[in-house]
Amino acid sequence: MIYFDNAATTLHKPPCVIEAVTNAMTSMGNSGRAAHGGALEASRTVYCAREALARLFGCRRADHVVFTANATEALNIALFGLFSAGDRIISTDCEHNSVLRPLYALEKQGIHTDFVPADGKGCVDYDDFARLLRPETRAVVAAHASNLTGNVTDLARIGAFAHRHGLLLIVDASQTAGSLPIDMERMNIDVLCFTGHKSLMGPQGTGGLCIGGDLDIRPLKTGGTGVQSYLPQQPRELPAHLEAGTLNAHGIAGLLAAVEFIGQTGLETIHAHEAALARRFYEGVSAMDGYTVYGDFSGGERAPIVTLNLRDVPSSELGDALFDEYGIATRAGAHCAPRMHRALGTVEQGAVRFSFGYFNTFDEVDAALAALKELSVE
Ligand code: ALA
Repeated sequence: MIYFDNAATTLHKPPCVIEAVTNAMTSMGNSGRAAHGGALEASRTVYCAREALARLFGCRRADHVVFTANATEALNIALFGLFSAGDRIISTDCEHNSVLRPLYALEKQGIHTDFVPADGKGCVDYDDFARLLRPETRAVVAAHASNLTGNVTDLARIGAFAHRHGLLLIVDASQTAGSLPIDMERMNIDVLCFTGHKSLMGPQGTGGLCIGGDLDIRPLKTGGTGVQSYLPQQPRELPAHLEAGTLNAHGIAGLLAAVEFIGQTGLETIHAHEAALARRFYEGVSAMDGYTVYGDFSGGERAPIVTLNLRDVPSSELGDALFDEYGIATRAGAHCAPRMHRALGTVEQGAVRFSFGYFNTFDEVDAALAALKELSVE
């Protein structure tokens, strides 16, 4: 199989990740729940992972790295934990349902979202953020990159705007964490939500949020923390405040190994390879008759995603043909990105997304281009 569905999850992980999970499953007790060797081994590994992620994302404090099962859970914690009735939020058409559905649910609690529209290339006009600003606006919530087009949001620009107006900036980094540089301090990010299993190349079931300052986030879950057991409520201190129940320490051990792999390989090296694969694919398919490619390829940073359609062929048919006839794995359909599909005009047809990862090769890209050429013949 040629795997081009890395935006959904990376299938090929660095071998050290698999080894770390296996070792953890044979050596770890429950992190923070006892002082015997197995529990301490888990606690140490989890803390090292917090430190490694804090370094990677420019988060000032390791204990402000909170682990969750995925980016969706992290976003739910931030969005349900920070706002009250009467508040307004600015978000964009580029968002995934992991942001949109919590925002729609918040409407029922009297918290309104104003959406910055995306154009037919999936781009936003940055002046719209100021246009949508109201006295009640408390935050901007934005994806670092669209999971559908791969267009990257200028976070430093939005961060400067947000802080100029006393707004929080909450970022969904699902498509960029581990692949594009993120610096919470420089970009003025208050809450960074990430997943471990995509470009960070860690196990599924890992993710988290990094909290920039002393934000008071109400916990989404309450329960055991291993500390302050006689308190009737969650302890005030992070990370326990937002982490109830046993952590996925086995997965976090794999995530730590993945972050170390990224550090040794170099984030720039990883991104350069992924960007070169995507660029070669984009140029190849753009030169073929019959294909429409979505997104902004006019220059600048992009996530390694190229999404397309063949004439009016339903995207599921093209996706199935690629896999059944050529063994090429992509993602077709709606990609949990309803507003972006509306902006692109692809609600009915959906689209076929090719997303590239560090372990993909140029030969695989050329094989996909050859397959698309054959499939384009009417
Ligand atoms: N959010 C993931 C995707 O874009 C699953 O495919």
